[in-house]
Amino acid sequence: MKASTIFTTLAAVLPAFAVPTARSTGDSFGGLAIHSGSPIHLSAINANGNSFWLNKETTSYCPNTTVTSCPEGKYTYFTNGNNTLSLSVEVPGGQRVYVAADGSLGYTIPHGSVSGSQNVSYTGFNLRDSGIHLQYKGADWLAVPVGGAYKVYAAAAQNAPQNGTSFAFRVQTVNATFGAWEY
Ligand SMILES: *[C@@H]1O[C@H](CO)[C@@H](O)[C@H](O)[C@H]1NC(C)=O
Ligand SMILES: *[C@@H]1O[C@H](CO)[C@@H](O)[C@H](O)[C@H]1NC(C)=O
Ligand SMILES: *[C@@H]1O[C@H](CO)[C@@H](O)[C@H](O)[C@H]1NC(C)=O
Ligand SMILES: *[C@@H]1O[C@H](CO)[C@@H](O)[C@H](O)[C@H]1NC(C)=O
Ligand SMILES: *[C@@H]1O[C@H](CO)[C@@H](O)[C@H](O)[C@H]1NC(C)=O
Repeated sequence: MKASTIFTTLAAVLPAFAVPTARSTGDSFGGLAIHSGSPIHLSAINANGNSFWLNKETTSYCPNTTVTSCPEGKYTYFTNGNNTLSLSVEVPGGQRVYVAADGSLGYTIPHGSVSGSQNVSYTGFNLRDSGIHLQYKGADWLAVPVGGAYKVYAAAAQNAPQNGTSFAFRVQTVNATFGAWEY
């Protein structure tokens, strides 16, 4: 078992504490939605189907016919957040996070540096408050109910929906090199 697997398991209990941890870019971090008194409070921000969600499991993939060992892939981890943002993945080429034209937060397919739609924004992400909050263009996020889960939108996006619940993205530092082979 890789050390990263042990720590991703440990990370599962971190939301219960929700202790803010200052961090610098380069480390992996998870995201928790913060909106006290709302149903989304302390929900993990998870990658699933090239979008991000609350109340929906992380989906990831390990090509276990060609790779001998993968990170657990059960949790969604990000990296950087200094203007650009990526998923914390082992796959060559990585996976970049973007804000789509409809305002939703998305991520590129593995091996591809651009999304299917070219009209997306890869820049404008920033860590604030000594690295404990992630924002996009200086604003927080919206959770829009979709089929029992909540889809994540950037509040500062031009076409962000009007019907979302606002939340802050609380950075949760994890001691893991990667979150998954690929999401
Ligand atoms: C953020 O990016 C800028 C420009 O690339 C760089 O000068 C700065 O050191 C970076 N900050 C951190 C915390 O990595
Ligand atoms: C390989 O991955 C497939 C699909 O995720 C899974 O069903 C299978 O159990 C895995 N095999 C091993 C040896 O991990
Ligand atoms: C690109 O997205 C922006 C919203 O972010 C929209 O206003 C613009 O019309 C889009 N451009 C194209 C060519 O689709
Ligand atoms: C909320 O807004 C989104 C995006 O505009 C839309 O797809 C969805 O149907 C809306 N949901 C409700 C409950 O109004
Ligand atoms: C992170 O894990 C490595 C490898 O197990 C360990 O040496 C290091 O002390 C850990 N760092 C923290 C901050 O827990």
